[in-house]
Amino acid sequence: MNGRLLEGKKGIIFGALNEMSIAWKVAERAVEEGAEIVLSNTQMALRLGETEKLAEKLNTIVIAADATDLEDLDLLIKGAMKYFNGKFDFILHSIGMSPNVRKGRHYSDLDYNYLDKTLDISAISFHKVIQTARKNDAISEWGSIVGLSYVAAQRTFYGYNDMADAKSLLESIARSFGYIYGQERHVRINTISQSPTTTTAGQGVKGFDHLLDFSERMSPLGNATGEECADYCLTLFSDLTKKVTMQNLFHDGGFSSMGMSLQAMQQYNKSFEYDKEHPFD
Ligand SMILES: NC(=O)c1ccc[n+]([C@@H]2O[C@H](COP(=O)([O-])OP(=O)(O)OC[C@H]3O[C@@H](n4cnc5c(N)ncnc54)[C@H](O)[C@@H]3O)[C@@H](O)[C@H]2O)c1
Repeated sequence: MNGRLLEGKKGIIFGALNEMSIAWKVAERAVEEGAEIVLSNTQMALRLGETEKLAEKLNTIVIAADATDLEDLDLLIKGAMKYFNGKFDFILHSIGMSPNVRKGRHYSDLDYNYLDKTLDISAISFHKVIQTARKNDAISEWGSIVGLSYVAAQRTFYGYNDMADAKSLLESIARSFGYIYGQERHVRINTISQSPTTTTAGQGVKGFDHLLDFSERMSPLGNATGEECADYCLTLFSDLTKKVTMQNLFHDGGFSSMGMSLQAMQQYNKSFEYDKEHPFD
């Protein structure tokens, strides 16, 4: 599926760590569709991950930036404008990390310094990226900014921990800044709420394999893959979605609209059969 959907478009893609990363797949597909891109990730990710390998493959550059650091972000935006010879059209924020999840802290026993970090890295960095881009007047009219979210922003998923709070904030920032940037420059800002996907960040979530299996069975269309998420991101960068803004868009095979499926109901009932036949065992 190689077309020219993004012919003439330029953008920054944050968060490609390795081949599993959603951002990695977005970068590959964006270039296939004719976009010019600049990749960004932290210094540590550049050391431990494979972002530079991807840049080489896609014949582009990487500019290191910690997305919580305003100075780094300013240098990145200015560097990208230099590389592109002017303004650019899209940004993908594909960034998430929770020290509480990493260290196995229960939600009822959070470390608040860690919580600050979770919110700063996974949500406030979205605001910082957008604010820095706006101050540099970096994004062309009708440009598009996309962040990646998860349905735990709306509903409780045991194990997702303080990342749920971060995702709620991320989605709120898309609405609040979407209003301002939309009115001023017709720049749209949306989040995509993606199915569980096997990546480095995804696998950090407690009980991830069970969550993946549950949502696969509960979604009428099955889980959306990372490749499918990349395709959806591309539509939002393209001119086909110019009037879509301030939205959280579910890309999850229908999961978020399900309550109980027939299959889940049958499985649930089965779990009582043993008890009914042997009530005193
Ligand atoms: N994998 C899933 O199941 C899933 C589901 C829904 C949403 N998401 C979201 O998708 C996004 C991408 O995650 P992924 O699953 O591709 O995992 P990933 O681990 O491949 O990507 C996370 C990226 O965040 C980067 N990062 C961490 N701290 C940073 C910082 N301070 N500054 C800049 N970058 C930083 C990492 O280096 C990494 O590249 C995240 O927002 C994640 O929450 C993932």
